[in-house]
Amino acid sequence: MANLQTSYLGLELKNPLIAGSCGLTNSIDNIMELAKRGVGAIVIKSIFEEQINVETENVIKNEEGDIKVLAQAPDTMLGRRVHDYDEAYAYIYDYARRNTLEKYLAFLREAKKAVNIPVIASINCVSNNNWQAFSKRIEETGVDALELNIYILPTDWRRSTEENEKVYFDIIKEIRSYTNLPLSVKIGYYFSALNQFVMKLSKTGVKGIILFNRPYNIDFDIEKIKVSHGGILSTETEYNHTLRWISILSGNVDCDLSASTGVHSWETFVKQLLAGATTVQIASALYKGGFDIIPEILTNTASWMEKHNFNNVDAFRGKLSKAKAENPAAFERVQFMKYYSDIE
Ligand SMILES: Cc1cc2nc3c(=O)[nH]c(=O)nc-3n(C[C@H](O)[C@H](O)[C@H](O)COP(=O)(O)O)c2cc1C
Repeated sequence: MANLQTSYLGLELKNPLIAGSCGLTNSIDNIMELAKRGVGAIVIKSIFEEQINVETENVIKNEEGDIKVLAQAPDTMLGRRVHDYDEAYAYIYDYARRNTLEKYLAFLREAKKAVNIPVIASINCVSNNNWQAFSKRIEETGVDALELNIYILPTDWRRSTEENEKVYFDIIKEIRSYTNLPLSVKIGYYFSALNQFVMKLSKTGVKGIILFNRPYNIDFDIEKIKVSHGGILSTETEYNHTLRWISILSGNVDCDLSASTGVHSWETFVKQLLAGATTVQIASALYKGGFDIIPEILTNTASWMEKHNFNNVDAFRGKLSKAKAENPAAFERVQFMKYYSDIE
């Protein structure tokens, strides 16, 4: 059988397929099953910065029971200004009380004991707001790495590109003063110069960048004339965006790249590796196809490698990246005159 071993964030993985952070990585039974089916590593369901803030008392309730955010609370939350009282905070406060930090830490310890593959903790964050010390406690659980899911939707008209981007660098700098865990950062795609931003990010000492988180999408209900939400799970046609950017960035950044969003089959798994991804994360595919998708991806990938005489993943990783492509212009083409002008 072809050798799928991969080094990611300085960790040894038996293959590059990772169970991404989602509701399914929130139970020990699932984690054991995911490991048994063969994933190379598991990213645990994230704890939220807001949860950490609540317990570290950056958010308090006033006498009337309203939620009050203390001075050091974030300027923006989920891309918008936080007021003294905010419905979202009320929700977060309640959620945080039910899902305590101690519970998260205990879960990490248990997860680490339950499986013998790398376990990666995860924090969802939107600000550089005094919560980073918690990473030290995560490190003490014995997990192998920490993934930061930083998602700032640049919708605040008063904030410049530089201000938005600075938050990412500030978070990383601060967190690195508390923990020696290998760090990775998962980002969205709303950047005005994505390639430069990712390149700069890769020089901060982070060991990996995950492209891309999938935003919570809005939709409209045209009967109720109300805002609703789009599908929670990705579809198999959503991988191209990640494929383009992994291809463009591969070979030009100083850390690993992990592909996320829209990988639902062994073929798209192979494509992301050909683009140059060090690892590939799946979440929606686990919900839709069940955990059987894991051996299916791994077995078919091994057969494909044998068919093409690739003994290991490095033999083909990045073979179709922009840096190695015969026609690099293909990656830049976004206006499809050649294709669309022939369709009538
Ligand atoms: C139900 C669900 C819960 C998720 N929870 C988290 C989370 O806690 N932290 C995180 O970083 N990503 C979370 N994600 C995002 C996934 O890790 C992944 O980045 C995204 O779904 C795109 O990958 P996919 O197309 O394989 O689903 C979640 C996704 C789903 C579907």
